[in-house]
Amino acid sequence: MSESASSLSVVRDVDSLRRRLKDWRSANQTIALVPTMGALHTGHMALVEHAKALADEVVVSIFVNPTQFGPDEDLAAYPRSDSEDWELLAAADVGLLYMPDASVMYPEHFQTDVKVIKVSQGLCGDHRPGHFDGVATVVTKLLLQALPDYAVFGEKDYQQLVVIKRLVADLDIPVDIVGLPTVRELDGLALSSRNAYLSEPERAIAPALYKELSAVASDISNGAESSERCAQAAEALLKAGFNTVEYVDARDAETLMPLTSHGKPARVLAAVTLGKARLIDNVPVL
Ligand code: PAF
Repeated sequence: MSESASSLSVVRDVDSLRRRLKDWRSANQTIALVPTMGALHTGHMALVEHAKALADEVVVSIFVNPTQFGPDEDLAAYPRSDSEDWELLAAADVGLLYMPDASVMYPEHFQTDVKVIKVSQGLCGDHRPGHFDGVATVVTKLLLQALPDYAVFGEKDYQQLVVIKRLVADLDIPVDIVGLPTVRELDGLALSSRNAYLSEPERAIAPALYKELSAVASDISNGAESSERCAQAAEALLKAGFNTVEYVDARDAETLMPLTSHGKPARVLAAVTLGKARLIDNVPVL
C-alpha cells in the first residue's frame, strides 16, 4: 500500500504523539494503545483487531526497548521489519504508529526505574535479571505518553501482563489493561517474533512445549501434585530435544505465587531454550 493511500501516520516524538491524541480526544474518540517491539505477526495483529473493537482509534507503538534486554541477550539481533510492519498496520486501518527512538524514550540524564517488586521475581525474573524493570519502565512511559483508555497485551508474556496490571493499579494510571489469549500455529506453537530464530529441525521440536504444558495443566486439574508433575514435564522437554529448561512451574494466575490449594485460577508456565531461541509459553489450568 502506498503511504498516500493509507490513513496511517507515523509520529516519532512525544509532542507529536500527544498532539494527535489530543485531536482524537477533543472529538470524543476513545483510544487503545498496542505496545509492541515490531516484527509484527498474526499474534500482534490479533491484539490490533481487538483494540479496534474496543476503542474508536488505535495507536500501535514499535520500540525495541534496550533496557529489557540483558547484556548477553539478543538486542542487536532482535528481528526488525519496519516496512512490513507499516504495511500490516496500514492494511489493518490503524490510524497512528508511534516509533520513538532510544533518545526519545531515554534522553540524556534519564535515571528512573520502575520496579514491580514481587511479581517480577521468580519464573522469567530469575533468568532475566532486570528484564521486568525494563518492561515496567518503558510501559509506564508509553502509558503516560499516550494516556490511552485501553492498552492491549498478549497472554503469551504472562508474567509481563501480571507485572503491567500490578504497576497500573499501584501507580493509579487510568487505563484498562486488556490481556488476550495466545495466538498459536496449527501445531500449537505460540506465535513469537523469536520463532524466526528456529532452524527447520528445531521448528519441528518446538510444538512439544505447548503439548507438554497442556498435559501438565490437565493433570493438575485432575488432582496431580503440581511440583512433581512440573519436574516430570521438565525432563520430558529435555528428552524431546529442547537444549535447556529454565523452569516449568504452576502458579496462582493472579499473584504468580506458588500454588497452595486447588480451586483458585492457576497457570502452568515454562521457559526453554532451543538453538538460538528462548521460548516461553503458558496455559491455564481449567
Ligand atoms: O511484549 C513486548 O513486546 C514488550 O515487552 C513491550 C510490552 C512492548 C515492552 O517493550
